Amino acid sequence: MKITAKELRTKWLEFYKSKGHVDIGAVSLIGDGSTGVMFNVAGMQPLMPYLLGKSHPAGKRLCNVQGCMRTVDIDSVGDASHFTFFEMMGNWSLGDYFKKEKTAWTFELLTEVFGLDKDKLCVTVFAGNESAPRDEETANLLIGLGIKPEHVYFLPKEDNWWELEGTVGTPCGPDNEWFYPLRADKADPVFPDDYVEIGNDVYMQYKKTETGYEPLGRGNVDTGFGFDRMLLFLNGLDDAYLTDLFTHVLKRLEELSGKHYAEGGEVQRAMRIIADHTRTTVMLIGDRQGVLPSNVGAGYILRRIMRRAIRYCRQLGVSSEAMQDVAKIYIREVYNDSYPLLLEKEDFILEEIKKEAERFEATLTTGMREFEKCLQGIARKNEFMTKQNPAYVPETVIGGKQAFRLFDTFGFPLELTEELAAEHGLTVDTAGFEAAFEEHREKSRVLQKGEAKGGLESRSEMAVKYHTATHLLNAALKVVLSPDCNQKGSNINDERMRFDFNFERAMTPEEVKAVEDLVNAKIREDLPVVFREMSLEEARAEHFVGVFDSKYGETVKTYSIGDFSKEMCGGPHVEHTGVLGHFRIVKEQSSSAGVRRIKAVLE
Ligand code: ALA
Repeated sequence: MKITAKELRTKWLEFYKSKGHVDIGAVSLIGDGSTGVMFNVAGMQPLMPYLLGKSHPAGKRLCNVQGCMRTVDIDSVGDASHFTFFEMMGNWSLGDYFKKEKTAWTFELLTEVFGLDKDKLCVTVFAGNESAPRDEETANLLIGLGIKPEHVYFLPKEDNWWELEGTVGTPCGPDNEWFYPLRADKADPVFPDDYVEIGNDVYMQYKKTETGYEPLGRGNVDTGFGFDRMLLFLNGLDDAYLTDLFTHVLKRLEELSGKHYAEGGEVQRAMRIIADHTRTTVMLIGDRQGVLPSNVGAGYILRRIMRRAIRYCRQLGVSSEAMQDVAKIYIREVYNDSYPLLLEKEDFILEEIKKEAERFEATLTTGMREFEKCLQGIARKNEFMTKQNPAYVPETVIGGKQAFRLFDTFGFPLELTEELAAEHGLTVDTAGFEAAFEEHREKSRVLQKGEAKGGLESRSEMAVKYHTATHLLNAALKVVLSPDCNQKGSNINDERMRFDFNFERAMTPEEVKAVEDLVNAKIREDLPVVFREMSLEEARAEHFVGVFDSKYGETVKTYSIGDFSKEMCGGPHVEHTGVLGHFRIVKEQSSSAGVRRIKAVLE
């Protein structure tokens, strides 16, 4: 290695500190909600208020190395250069220095600190449009520094304007982008084919409005250089996974699988996906605003990433425990200096990876069977229709409802179904999936509201007992049948309870008995039923079950029964399970597709 990851971080920060910048350290990976962007996609994102004019406690010159996430590239992960998590080396002028200093410093850093050849550097600058003028000033400054005039290119807004996509009221502006030949030893590299972008300096003088741009009234600089990309490039590599961020991870995967990264093809792709996705998993769970896998928001993105990694573990022929081994390498060796919080949270991170793998593997086999059924259904239909009409155009799309059922009942993230479909030359009706998902959310909201209302003060003593029994039953089903069984509805009166949950087949008599026995055992243990109010995030972190669609920061009501059941719920409940008597399942039947119904009594 010519330069290690740790050296690169230090060099960046030391250089900008020598130019009067303060290292402000990295903040959480999770967006603060101000822009509507879920994760930080750029180092500038947490600094938005300061770029717009607020004064920053650390001053006007800042630098850091900030973790970022971009899920748009998830399908490209597996090639030599794409990641879901990456770090961005940044520095900022908050209305302080501007183009003259910035061009000079980037030039000095690249040529003197990193030893790049100035004759090979190419820089693109903004060509101008109705919002902002052509950036002759920067072009002249660059040429004055020693960049060859024929290496300065004027490009339009699509190339040389930077803004946070999909936002309004955010700072933005023209930028110049720095390029260098990927193979520095190539004799006469041609721009742009032989070149890669290594970073950019954005001159943030404008603010995005609903209809266009307006001047900010001051000039900021926002610089971002991709850390992982720079590391690859300074080491003369053409595969980002060969830097010291990943070498131990790949070695471990080779030991576990007995296969070699250098084999290329599917083996290499699987190892890269596991390496990338496990790193992102570690960073999200270990973040100071820790995310846990779930079916909504950031938690759902995490779940998709984790499950994809688990699937590639299978493909590589290693168990999902490999993810824990890989996670340990990141936590202990690769990011121990720059992300010490990961070390503190190591046990928690590893435990969460284990739990999600267990949850997924419990349903993966049945889910795969269900997927096979979808395939067979399409094949049968095509065969039948083609017989009727030889000109029939065969069906090549898996329906949105089927994809949603694979998601809801078997925990298959949409991408997984899409990837499996692609392996068979099929696509998925994603709009149909979204529609089914929305319909489900709506039903859950109605259910939750109904239940909140159902927390009636006027409930009879018997109904209160049934309500507590509902929680015990919900927990018992997760133990006996599958952790993915969730309550889909319930109805209680003084005589009986009815409980709907997702499960794909009828329960066997043995399973019915096992559920009854478990509930009765918990009744006999006379467990305390404890009510607590907490933030939604705490409830999530402590694994309370329920519908997690309240707003961030909202308080939720929870009930736990010993450590057997934890649910978000408005109550009321009995104080100890001992008063419930004897629980008996009267009937187990189908309620609707993929949903079973249990009728039970307390005697
Ligand atoms: N905000 C700029 C980027 O993300 C520096 O590339």
